[in-house]
Amino acid sequence: IDPTIDLFSEIERLKKEKNMVLLAHYYQEPDIQDVADYIGDSLGLAQQAEKTSADIIVFAGVHFMAETAKILNPAKKVLLPDLNAGCSLADSAPADLFKKFKEQHPDHIVISYVNCSAEIKALSDIIVTSSNAEKIVESVPKDQKIIFAPDKNLGAYLVKKTGRDMVLWNGACMVHEIFSLEKITKLKTRHPNAKFIAHPECEDAVLRIADYIGSTTGLLKYSQQSEATEFIVATETGILHQMQKASPNKTFIPAPPNNSCACNDCPHMKLNTLEKLYLCMEYETPEITMEEELRKAAKKPIDRMLEISA
Ligand code: 13P
Ligand code: SF4
Repeated sequence: IDPTIDLFSEIERLKKEKNMVLLAHYYQEPDIQDVADYIGDSLGLAQQAEKTSADIIVFAGVHFMAETAKILNPAKKVLLPDLNAGCSLADSAPADLFKKFKEQHPDHIVISYVNCSAEIKALSDIIVTSSNAEKIVESVPKDQKIIFAPDKNLGAYLVKKTGRDMVLWNGACMVHEIFSLEKITKLKTRHPNAKFIAHPECEDAVLRIADYIGSTTGLLKYSQQSEATEFIVATETGILHQMQKASPNKTFIPAPPNNSCACNDCPHMKLNTLEKLYLCMEYETPEITMEEELRKAAKKPIDRMLEISA
């Protein structure tokens, strides 16, 4: 790319000229968030993708999110700046192994977290996101046995919240498993007035000491509405950009990881850059494509989610 090019104005120009909508997750780098038409959590992004009137959806997020957009709105061209932007949680549930696991529990329905492949969605009865999971699990009749996949931490949190005894798939997110309980506890001692807020993908020991647990949108709203002026935040660091923008006079501290070489950045989310975003919009590639049979099978459990959370 010509280094003198103004990527922000070029991206704005391409959006208008090609009738593109740019959807970005809160974990994207600040520059991408600033140029997006809509920034949100997984549920908000899926809802926007479903209802957009744009011709092209440019998805600044990871593969399963762009795939969900394509499943919901197949007539649109869906672009992802880097097809390698995967997800450790989605990768922790390979479809062939999950199919066998499901066969071992024939009387169970499958509730899957949206962070999974289209193949896993096609094997599921209902999809959830972190903002509607509790409500959806509660909506299932009490005597119905449930498999929850792929996140064991969100699953364990839901078992605790709803009292439902679900069979959990053993998957996890590499970013949310990295936090150090010991370092967070010390940090809390040094900041006694800070609220400790966490995403439910974190481990139980971390969630136990949280003042608030929620999806990225939930965490952002809590930080805006709370009287507190200091927050220790246990999720991917991208969300701090919106927190700081919404509350410029408050202080946001990323929760410390368990070793000093690690960080709370998602390596998949951070594969997208402003340059790649521009190139993807200019050349309309890489594009998400999917077999129609798989798309239809994966859509059913997402539609159930959207109906219940409407
Ligand atoms: P939400 O933004 O839906 O809370 O999801 C968090 C996440 O890990 C997405 O990859
Ligand atoms: Fe996947 Fe975790 Fe990255 Fe979200 S933060 S995309 S769950 S690896």
